[in-house]
Amino acid sequence: MISPADRARPQATCRACGGTVVQFLDLGRQPLSDRFLTEPEIPQEYFFQLAVGLCETCTMVQLMQEVPRERMFHEDYPYYSSGSAVMQKHFADTARHLLETEAGGPDPFVVEIGCNDGVMLRTVHEAGVRHLGFEPSGKVAEAARAKGLRVRGDFFEESTAREVRASDGPADVIFAANTICHIPYLDSILRGVDALLGPDGVFVFEDPYLGDILAKTSFDQIYDEHFFLFSARSVQALAASFGFELVDVDRLAVHGGEVRYTLARAGARRPADRVAALIAEEDAGGVATLARLDQFAAQVGRIRDDLRALLERLTAEGKRVVAYGATAKSATVANFCGIGPDLVSRVYDTTPAKQGRLTPGTHIPVHPASEFPTDPPDYALLFAWNHADEIMAKEQAFRQAGGAWILYVPHVHVRD
Ligand code: SAH
Ligand code: TYD
Ligand code: ZN
Repeated sequence: MISPADRARPQATCRACGGTVVQFLDLGRQPLSDRFLTEPEIPQEYFFQLAVGLCETCTMVQLMQEVPRERMFHEDYPYYSSGSAVMQKHFADTARHLLETEAGGPDPFVVEIGCNDGVMLRTVHEAGVRHLGFEPSGKVAEAARAKGLRVRGDFFEESTAREVRASDGPADVIFAANTICHIPYLDSILRGVDALLGPDGVFVFEDPYLGDILAKTSFDQIYDEHFFLFSARSVQALAASFGFELVDVDRLAVHGGEVRYTLARAGARRPADRVAALIAEEDAGGVATLARLDQFAAQVGRIRDDLRALLERLTAEGKRVVAYGATAKSATVANFCGIGPDLVSRVYDTTPAKQGRLTPGTHIPVHPASEFPTDPPDYALLFAWNHADEIMAKEQAFRQAGGAWILYVPHVHVRD
């Protein structure tokens, strides 16, 4: 429960249950995390206040302020899911798993919310299974269609879900990865799932896990697009209030630690033992308490101080410092810590849509990753730390030549 002292904190209304959300961390004025700019666009750059709170009723951790969805997801949304070989394999495995366990009927139908460039659905399509992806962002949806996939260029919500139910019939699986946590209007999503899902169907979604975010102090998982930081307890409460039940949880190593939640219609399946086990683990660790979240906020402040101190020292020593991976996550780090071109001269990234542009808010130039080995710096700040194994394997020559990586998860350290 919230103490009288906590009542003085800024409050918002919970987007999951309508309860009161109390703030525990303010990350300041922030830009759109995936809005890479050209120089003339700088004066019109959009900013909002990035702060996070805990719902005292359902324990859902969420942003205090919402960014309109069309500002984030539009024709030029620049995140392409297939940009990581590890993620390609993860989603091929995921698709095979869903097909094996949930699509055994005569004419199964798999729907994906936020299919992006088709990284998951391509395997469903190759298996000859009926599918539909919802993807409102124009160019990434086009990349999925180019793979032969059936993609609807709309936001998934109650009205669009009902249309698909009427035209295509019930879905056996509704899947979403790194998308449900992006969606403040969860009521409409769950009513849409209710309308589209068959009686024995499952709604499966995977997103960054609050337990891992707290354990690693990975505060860069907080940005405009990540409206919710889910836990098993908060998802269980959400499911129950829309006639569903959380029947399974799977911890995943991808993207710094995620959970795959499986929801079925209430009473349709017996929940796996690991649901109660994960909730018990969350309760023991205080995951959904203001005391633990305040401690997290204090750790975030220490990371900012340590990272700034390190970058300022290296710059004073005349070292060349760059960054690697123009991630959405890094917008939070760079803007919260005040890391601009004075401390990090450029960011390398493989995404053509980001190259030749400036990072959001801090305006660091983005260069093609192919140029990184040709002009090796002294230090590289690894913004894409969740892809560390893949990137460090690819860029082995950098360390062999004396370069060192800077990481800030779970704390600031140098790997040389
Ligand atoms: N599933 C992919 C993409 C994640 S990025 C992966 O895990 O890598 C989130 C995607 O969700 C974006 O492509 C965005 O355009 C899409 N999106 C956002 N809101 C949506 C909604 N209401 N319905 C469908 N897609 C949505
Ligand atoms: P990611 O961490 O997946 O997500 P987000 O933007 O949501 O924080 O982003 C990875 C970024 O790093 C993406 O812009 C592509 C880039 N990248 C590379 O430059 N090289 C690589 O080897 C990999 C895996 C990613
Ligand atoms: Zn709530």
